[in-house]
Amino acid sequence: MRFAVTILPGDGIGPEVMDVGVGIMVHVAQGYGLLLDLTTKQVGGASLDACGLPITDDTLEACYGAQAVLLGAVGGPRWEGLPHDKKPERALLRLREALGLYTNLRPARVYPALVEASSLRPEVVRDTDLLVVRELTGGIYFGKPRGYDHDHGWNTLVYTRDEVERIARVAFQQADLRRKHVTCVDKANVLESSQFWREIVHEVHRDYPHIELVDLYVDNAAMQLVRNPGQFDVLLTQNMFGDILSDVASVVTGSLGMLPSASIGDEHALYEPVHGSAPDIAGQNTANPLAMIASVAMMFATSFNLPEAAHLLEQAIEGTLSAGYRTADIATPGATVLSTSDMGAQVQEAFDHLVQTQPVSPTSGLVESE
Ligand code: IPM
Ligand code: MG
Repeated sequence: MRFAVTILPGDGIGPEVMDVGVGIMVHVAQGYGLLLDLTTKQVGGASLDACGLPITDDTLEACYGAQAVLLGAVGGPRWEGLPHDKKPERALLRLREALGLYTNLRPARVYPALVEASSLRPEVVRDTDLLVVRELTGGIYFGKPRGYDHDHGWNTLVYTRDEVERIARVAFQQADLRRKHVTCVDKANVLESSQFWREIVHEVHRDYPHIELVDLYVDNAAMQLVRNPGQFDVLLTQNMFGDILSDVASVVTGSLGMLPSASIGDEHALYEPVHGSAPDIAGQNTANPLAMIASVAMMFATSFNLPEAAHLLEQAIEGTLSAGYRTADIATPGATVLSTSDMGAQVQEAFDHLVQTQPVSPTSGLVESE
């Protein structure tokens, strides 16, 4: 099998975590006999510096032509003062819109070795294993009109029936693969658009009677996430609420540096860590590459249809953490603190060890490496 992957390292720590991500992706692909055609392009601030645009048609073309896109991070203080259409973040919004990536999957689970790393008490976070299903190409992020003048600033929160139906289906299907529970997060007590959203989610739910559906207002959901995150399985929500709640979910798991994401449409998919470009630690080889590695795992499961490879990678991350290896952001007393690149090497070694000790199933697709 041959796959085209477009690599967008971006800004800040993006390139350094990307080095680790690409190294592991190529290594795992080799083990499974996959051929990857990699094309690297600029995006965000890097693209602004090079040619004055946050994303160019050339970069977009390279993404259209690929089965999967892997992105590092975009943004940084140097470009903060730019007008909205020039900001590095615009590149990401443009990519999501142009590639039709309406589903954003953000799993958050606590690795047993990291229960102490959360800012919340271990007994609160211990059972966290949830999935935020965030609508990614609609809502207030994209609604028109938008703008501001001297006296007003405005954005439009609008959803169409089709947009709500398709993301609701994704949430129920994901729940079917998990613990069969969906929490629909909205603000239906105040926003008409949320009442609309909620009614459609309940209509779609009729096709999934074996999935339990619970409604929750977003303010309550934020509170419940830090009070008792273990109660959640799938959280289904609109673009903006999903942005906020996934950051909340990430601190539960110990660090924003741990969380992967997949943005999926009918024809394209993009994988990226949830964390940003962290300009304060950029270029120091100290950033946590685990969210990037976990994003690569999601790519293997979803775009390459190799869930076993994804599972082994996740196990490799877990094993590395259990063995006491940490990056600075999740360092605990007595742990061995590694650089970005050494953490990547450590996870790769753990992966190889798992492959060697694992009984090879006839369907696994694993090939002998020389
Ligand atoms: C995210 C980010 C983006 C968003 C920004 C960088 C546009 O915060 O992916 O969560 O708001 O969606
Ligand atoms: Mg965000």
